[in-house]
Amino acid sequence: METSYNKLTSNYQSSIEEYLTNTCFVYPNEPQQTLFSAMRYSLLAGGKRLRPLFTLEFCRMCCGEWTKAMPFAAAVEMIQTYSLIHDDLPCMDDDDVRRGKPTNHKVYGEAIAVLAGDALLTAAFSYLAKADLSAEARIRAVEILSQCAGELGMVGGQVLDIEGEQKVCTAQQVLDIETRKTGALICAACMLGVIAADGNAEQLKAAEAFASNLGLAFQIRDDMLDVIGDQQALGKAVGTDQDKNTFVQLYGLETCEHMVREHTKKAIAALDAFEENGYLIDLAHSLIDRTV
Ligand code: IPE
Ligand code: IPE
Ligand code: MG
Ligand code: MG
Ligand code: MG
Repeated sequence: METSYNKLTSNYQSSIEEYLTNTCFVYPNEPQQTLFSAMRYSLLAGGKRLRPLFTLEFCRMCCGEWTKAMPFAAAVEMIQTYSLIHDDLPCMDDDDVRRGKPTNHKVYGEAIAVLAGDALLTAAFSYLAKADLSAEARIRAVEILSQCAGELGMVGGQVLDIEGEQKVCTAQQVLDIETRKTGALICAACMLGVIAADGNAEQLKAAEAFASNLGLAFQIRDDMLDVIGDQQALGKAVGTDQDKNTFVQLYGLETCEHMVREHTKKAIAALDAFEENGYLIDLAHSLIDRTV
């Protein structure tokens, strides 16, 4: 029997897929079709859609109409997709497979892959701007997403990650990398859901506390999966983090498993601020031992 958990997940996921497929980058009369094709190739390659799902669920938990948060959710997924396209480039992690398919640059070449990433990043902010929400909500969303995705967030973390390849990092330095490269965008996803619902300051703070802990747990699990994961199931290469600084390198798998549990526990505690938090509690639990 389908549980309400599975039902809500598939409802969110199919709404996200439908929105991305039908509204994003379909311009039959423009000549730069290669660009649209490259953008849609990675955007529609079927990621887990965890970040947009967070946006929609935080909106719902704050008593907003979650369908109205869809442009915010799509914007976050555009940034996520662009970050993966660039992360996989030869000048960065140099990976050949992503979301179960050849990486963007393997199909379209490096120049188009860079530009597809640039265009996804740019388009994300136009989706924030055109959401059917108050001007104040849209401006706050721009501020939060640019802060979390840019030099103080994801891009900043990617720089530290690359610089870290040349040295052995301390635990604090690994924490600095992981909170920025992964945690920050998850924070934006959750906070944008609260903003879309016109939630209060306490709810925004709770969303941030949930996301920063869950983001850390999520990235530690990602680092573990590089060692224990299955390439086929993950849809990306494993065993590629040898030169990277991760908590797995510092502490080993067993301690990391414990860290994932502890950070997830803290994330769940932050959900006390919301009445209807059952779905997210179940989702957070399910991510502790995720294999994809
Ligand atoms: C991959 O994120 C990059 C990390 C931050 C670890 P996901 O594991 O959420 O990838 P998709 O979006 O499902 O492809
Ligand atoms: C990437 O971290 C985080 C991003 C900002 C894309 P990883 O380099 O560990 O992500 P994967 O393992 O390639 O998905
Ligand atoms: Mg990387
Ligand atoms: Mg990578
Ligand atoms: Mg990884």
